[in-house]
Amino acid sequence: MTARGTDWGLAALVALLIATGILTLFAGSSHDAWVFDAHDALGAAIALLLVVKLRRVWSRLLTPSRWDPRTAAGLAGTALVLAALASGWLWSGGLDTAILGYSLLGWHEAVGAALAVAVAAHMVARTKPLRRRDLAHRRQFFAAAGIGAASLLAWRLERPAQGLVGLRGAKRRFTGSYEAASFAGNAFPTTSWVADNPRPISLDGYRLRVGGLVARELALAPVQLSAGDELTATLDCTGGFYSTQRWRGISLGRVLDLAQPHVDAHHVRVVSRTGYRWSFSLADARRLLLATHVGDEALSHEHGAPLRLVAPGARGFQWVKWVERIDLLEHPDYGAPASTLWSSFTSAGRGQP
Ligand code: HEM
Repeated sequence: MTARGTDWGLAALVALLIATGILTLFAGSSHDAWVFDAHDALGAAIALLLVVKLRRVWSRLLTPSRWDPRTAAGLAGTALVLAALASGWLWSGGLDTAILGYSLLGWHEAVGAALAVAVAAHMVARTKPLRRRDLAHRRQFFAAAGIGAASLLAWRLERPAQGLVGLRGAKRRFTGSYEAASFAGNAFPTTSWVADNPRPISLDGYRLRVGGLVARELALAPVQLSAGDELTATLDCTGGFYSTQRWRGISLGRVLDLAQPHVDAHHVRVVSRTGYRWSFSLADARRLLLATHVGDEALSHEHGAPLRLVAPGARGFQWVKWVERIDLLEHPDYGAPASTLWSSFTSAGRGQP
């Protein structure tokens, strides 16, 4: 392979790994499994191409007199790729360790983000254009096809091999998450996207308000929310655990029917006490539940009492906790993703009255 072909190949693989990595954060239903499959196979491909690259530059790396300022940048990039590979493989092999309070998967995501910045800076600083022979030569084609085939094989054999040697990784969900306290009430881990940490919400005076494009605005009291509707669904956190539970409360479809959406209402926004919010299409929202209970226990404060959203197929951070308001909207709430960043800094998000 030409040097430029290898470098461009590495950059393209990093870009694809970051793109599929970001998509994994939003992929929670089984027809999204391809995102994880692609990410896993791309991980094997970049490892193989890195071997090709290191074989070429190894002798220069071992001879300090041949170093130039670019060598340091190259070494830093290589270290980040190796860190991403190591954390990815250790995680999917089943290593369950937390460093400074964050799971290995959390660190993997952070290294991925750092790599995105490093590769973008590297490409701006010293990209050399691709030539015809970097792409169209027969040897380039055979090398790329060989790496592609070997990566697919590695991805296909990974789980069976993990099962054979008894690694926990063989039992992980297609999202890479590991099971935690399914059907055990509030015992599953409590996590919050960023750091929302409101005060416990008293039931006295609590009302779920429903407004926006509706014929009837509502203010539902806790007793009205315990409607006995049930849904068995898996909460799958991007931090790397999943927990399947029988949730109980009131179906969002039932709440919407009570409020009677206008004909031009196409989206439903679910808003937390902290300002954190997420929106869903009206058709999807009808299939969701607002839970007051998990199993036979009332939801704990940490899990979002008095009311949390249960959204099967969406990742955990979209299961809004401490729900206080539902709004019917004509368009999706484009500001919702940003609210996931600032909600921890509102006074309610920081636990002030
Ligand atoms: C925003 C960035 C990223 C996110 C959110 C992310 C997310 C994930 C997730 C959820 C898994 C577990 C998948 C599974 O268990 O099958 C995983 C595994 C992995 N990731 Fe990433 N990733 C990111 C960036 C990267 C980058 C930049 C690389 C490589 C340079 C990489 C390489 C890997 C590898 C090698 C694995 C193990 C795959 C396997 O099971 O064989 N990831 N990543």
